[in-house]
Amino acid sequence: MSNGQLDNRVVSGMRPTGRLHIGHYHGALKNWAQLQHQHDCFFFVADWHALTTSYNETETIEQNTYEMLIDWFASGVSPSACTVFVQSKVPEHAELFVLLSMVTPLPWLERVPTYKDTIRRLNDKNLNTFGFLGYPVLQAADILMYRGGKVPVGADQEAHVEVSRDIARAFNWNFGRDEEWQSLAQKALGRIPKKIARQYETWRKQYVEHGVDEKLEAARALVFEQSHLSHDEQERLVGYLEDGGRIILPEPEVLLTDTPKVPGLNGEKMSKSYNNAVLMREEPNALEAKIRTMQTDPARVRRSDPGDPSKCPVYDLHKIYSNEDTLSWAANGCKSAGIGCIDCKGPLIDSLNAEQTEFHERATPYVEDRNLIRNIIEKGSEKARIVAKETLEDVRAAVGISFR
Ligand code: TRP
Ligand code: SF4
Repeated sequence: MSNGQLDNRVVSGMRPTGRLHIGHYHGALKNWAQLQHQHDCFFFVADWHALTTSYNETETIEQNTYEMLIDWFASGVSPSACTVFVQSKVPEHAELFVLLSMVTPLPWLERVPTYKDTIRRLNDKNLNTFGFLGYPVLQAADILMYRGGKVPVGADQEAHVEVSRDIARAFNWNFGRDEEWQSLAQKALGRIPKKIARQYETWRKQYVEHGVDEKLEAARALVFEQSHLSHDEQERLVGYLEDGGRIILPEPEVLLTDTPKVPGLNGEKMSKSYNNAVLMREEPNALEAKIRTMQTDPARVRRSDPGDPSKCPVYDLHKIYSNEDTLSWAANGCKSAGIGCIDCKGPLIDSLNAEQTEFHERATPYVEDRNLIRNIIEKGSEKARIVAKETLEDVRAAVGISFR
């Protein structure tokens, strides 16, 4: 496998929550739909992760998966441009989870901010479970499986990706230093031209002995230029540079998606459970009714009262959906009481509807034929398993339980 391909991987997942809303679209899916054209993307439904908090209400998971996938496709995520799969259909994730759990210290999990927060927030549920504590380890398995993948997520998931990096390092540290690794690195070194090998050694020493970071980068680049070396040989040489052994599971990188503020209909954060969401694939009448009754600047009671756009969730939506002209028309009209709130909402309803029309168009084939989705899941999961099996062969060998 070429390094180009590895550098180019992207992996992300969502728990199956059922129908999605425009906050999901602007915060994640729109970005996924773009990434799929430049990267080798793996997008999956994290159904096991759903179990960590909803183990007592599993009857909705499958239905929620279908509903959510329809919205992924409505957003433009396309099974012909990326690999779409379901986590539980790639059981290798569970195997990697077990192996990673062996090198993951408990305190790393206990101090993930969402851990205690969620236990407190969902205090009617017993989340004092092994599965829930292990949530980040499972997520690390999801990510590390697709080696070198970049992970597009919002800020709320950053801590989880950070733990994945720590776990990758712990794994490589524990299992990447087989007895022969040093001699194997030397052997790989013997396969590159002497002059280049000497340069590598000089830079390696400068990094290891004096911590000169640029030398590490330079030497790393030099290794990847040696395209006649195998992936394994390159990784050994890169691992040797850091004196940390072979990198079996490269550390992932977060691709922080900047999530625009998508306010709910009452001005609070948009969420299906707050009943304040504009869903993807609304019917035009329903959508119009929702926007017409949407919260505005509470201080603007009468049509003749001037308003303050910065205190109005409708204006926050304008910022996402409207061009400069419409924005200043709304802001000026609001501050001068030149327009009423219903006027102000007009262009917004139009833009939202235009977007919704696209959602409907893309979703139609899947709404009409659920078998399409079943096939996509089957095919995508098979494709993901090919990569997963490769990773696990290396992982098992590194751990020392491949029995070959
Ligand atoms: N924890 C993520 C969420 O709640 C879902 C998830 C599971 C995920 N595995 C992942 C996201 C791997 C990115 C990469 O949204
Ligand atoms: Fe909000 Fe527009 Fe009404 Fe001003 S005019 S309060 S921005 S809806």
